[in-house]
Amino acid sequence: MTPLRQAPPAPRLRVHQMTAGYGKAVIVQQVSLHVDPGEVVAVLGPNGSGKSTLVKGICGLADRFGGQVFLDDRDVTGLALEGLARTGIGYVPQRENVFPGLTVEENLEMATFVQAGWRRAQIREAIDRSYQRFPRLAERRRQPAGTLSGGERQMLAMARALVGQPRLLLLDEPTAALSVSVANHLFQMIRQIGAEGVAVLLVEQNVAGALEVSDRAYVLVNGEVVAQGPASEITQHGEVVNRVFGRSQRF
Ligand SMILES: Nc1ncnc2c1ncn2[C@@H]1O[C@H](COP(=O)(O)OP(=O)(O)OP(=O)(O)O)[C@@H](O)[C@H]1O
Ligand SMILES: [Mg+2]
Repeated sequence: MTPLRQAPPAPRLRVHQMTAGYGKAVIVQQVSLHVDPGEVVAVLGPNGSGKSTLVKGICGLADRFGGQVFLDDRDVTGLALEGLARTGIGYVPQRENVFPGLTVEENLEMATFVQAGWRRAQIREAIDRSYQRFPRLAERRRQPAGTLSGGERQMLAMARALVGQPRLLLLDEPTAALSVSVANHLFQMIRQIGAEGVAVLLVEQNVAGALEVSDRAYVLVNGEVVAQGPASEITQHGEVVNRVFGRSQRF
């Protein structure tokens, strides 16, 4: 008897030939990528190469001209952000990722509101979970988010994206403008989130830091994927490394 062959499990996130931009401007062209459960996958590339636009295209925040987005094989192309949050996608934008005038706790509460039908106890539980993961936020629960340090603000943004216990986390430059030690702390948190089974797509400028916690990486130049592979091998594409990252980057 021929043994039944099981199909491999679907990736957590699959982006198929995404072309996206703004109005008539095509920024990201024919990008395909995938992230498996528990994987941390980096998207690297120079300023303006379309990294944020790619993530926005996945979330329906940029204009999509072609391609599809699948979450665990479910077609979620075109779902609005609120729908995506309920479906299990957490997104931390590069900018304006917290409400500066609201306290830490109010920011977390706001993030729970998209989870339709949650009762008071569930909201409380989610907020307490955030404080367990980020004790620093618990200490600052009554502080307006606008007064947090850069690292604390990124922790809050990440905590907001995690309240609904997403299956996929999209992070757009979470360590930008942070000191090396704070960035390293956040990278370790990201690794930990991956280890819990969440699929993480990590857009980063900090190439060395990102590659250290990533399983695989894609390199985006002018909106196109020019290199991809295991994180430990991506820097061996000598020409790509020099062109994209410059010689000043150390690995
Ligand atoms: N809302 C918008 N409308 C029109 N063009 C935009 C918009 N947002 C970004 N762009 C353009 O899209 C291109 C890619 O920008 P994007 O922000 O995706 O790059 P990035 O790789 O994330 O850069 P960075 O590393 O600086 O964050 C840029 O040329 C930018 O000017
Ligand atoms: Mg960006």
